[in-house]
Amino acid sequence: MVRVALVGCGTMGRVHTNGYKNIDNAKLVAVCDINREKAQLLSDINGSKVYTSFDEMLKNEEFDILDVCLPTYMHKEFSLKGMDCGKHIFCEKPIALSVEDANIMIDTAKEKGLKFSVGHVLRFFPAYKSAIKTVESGKTGPIKLIRTTRNQGFPQWSWENWYNDYEKSGGPIVDLIIHDFDWIAQSFGDVDRVYAKSFNGKVENKEHCMATLRLKNGAIAHVEGSWGFPNGYPFRTTFELVGTQGQIEYDNIKNAGVEKMTCDEVYKAQYISPNLPTTEPYTAELRQFIDCVENNTPVIVTGEQAVKALKIALAAVESSQTGMPVQL
Ligand SMILES: NC(=O)c1ccc[n+]([C@@H]2O[C@H](COP(=O)([O-])OP(=O)(O)OC[C@H]3O[C@@H](n4cnc5c(N)ncnc54)[C@H](O)[C@@H]3O)[C@@H](O)[C@H]2O)c1
Repeated sequence: MVRVALVGCGTMGRVHTNGYKNIDNAKLVAVCDINREKAQLLSDINGSKVYTSFDEMLKNEEFDILDVCLPTYMHKEFSLKGMDCGKHIFCEKPIALSVEDANIMIDTAKEKGLKFSVGHVLRFFPAYKSAIKTVESGKTGPIKLIRTTRNQGFPQWSWENWYNDYEKSGGPIVDLIIHDFDWIAQSFGDVDRVYAKSFNGKVENKEHCMATLRLKNGAIAHVEGSWGFPNGYPFRTTFELVGTQGQIEYDNIKNAGVEKMTCDEVYKAQYISPNLPTTEPYTAELRQFIDCVENNTPVIVTGEQAVKALKIALAAVESSQTGMPVQL
């Protein structure tokens, strides 16, 4: 049985806690939040011990994995403290706000022989996985055009409204569309050049951003994200992949599976899987990390891959500020 302790009992802390409930070989032994009520609410889900002091939890609890669900600007400090006590780390995305901080986290885990993974969960979403499987089967031919969107209202739920402070969250380029940057870089190849536009935090509680990527293999991608939709708008993500022999489309709120169109003989449209597997992706990502700690197998989402996504995001921020493309 792998023992887990979790710090940060906000939105993602709750999602992860629900995930552990469904992982047979994991036990969430303790949860910590400076707000006792929030920690207690998660403890009520599966009986974990409650802490309001992280240092106390580290001192008193015996566990194998520290799950860091804190605001992004705290990821490095808390992950390093956990590593100093010999804990494997699962850290929510983005890994950190700077490449320098991220590399310190990766190097420390390596020096101490600890497993370290980052919550780039898109890789565990059935629709995104299924699309990549089809591309890998060769049916679409090489993908030349990628279009993704990730749009929502402003994340007003956060503790002390930390998302609104770009020094703490990085804004939606670093916080939100980093999901798509990771998926694109890991699935379709390294990014060469980035050009982006955004409001850059100038309009309070409203932010839209768009990035154009050129991949080293010549493909181009357009990545759109927003924290500026009216409140109550459903969280919506889409993708469109266009290859030389076919295309794949997906829209999360249409609930219609992944649509594939190929021209093997004649141009034809079909749904790859009208009933996508329902494996909850956040549980799937935690399950793979638990297995990798238990069986000493390689981590699927590595720190190095998280840095790759962060570099694209930081290049997009720079481009949106200078108006110039950024070469990676
Ligand atoms: N993978 C995803 O899809 C996804 C989605 C949303 C957020 N995230 C990431 O998850 C992380 C957390 O985001 P969130 O939306 O859950 O934030 P949140 O504001 O909802 O929760 C943060 C929690 O941390 C607690 N906290 C603050 N300081 C603390 C301390 N010193 N010790 C203990 N607890 C403390 C707060 O009380 C709060 O409960 C961020 O890095 C965010 O980017 C990932």
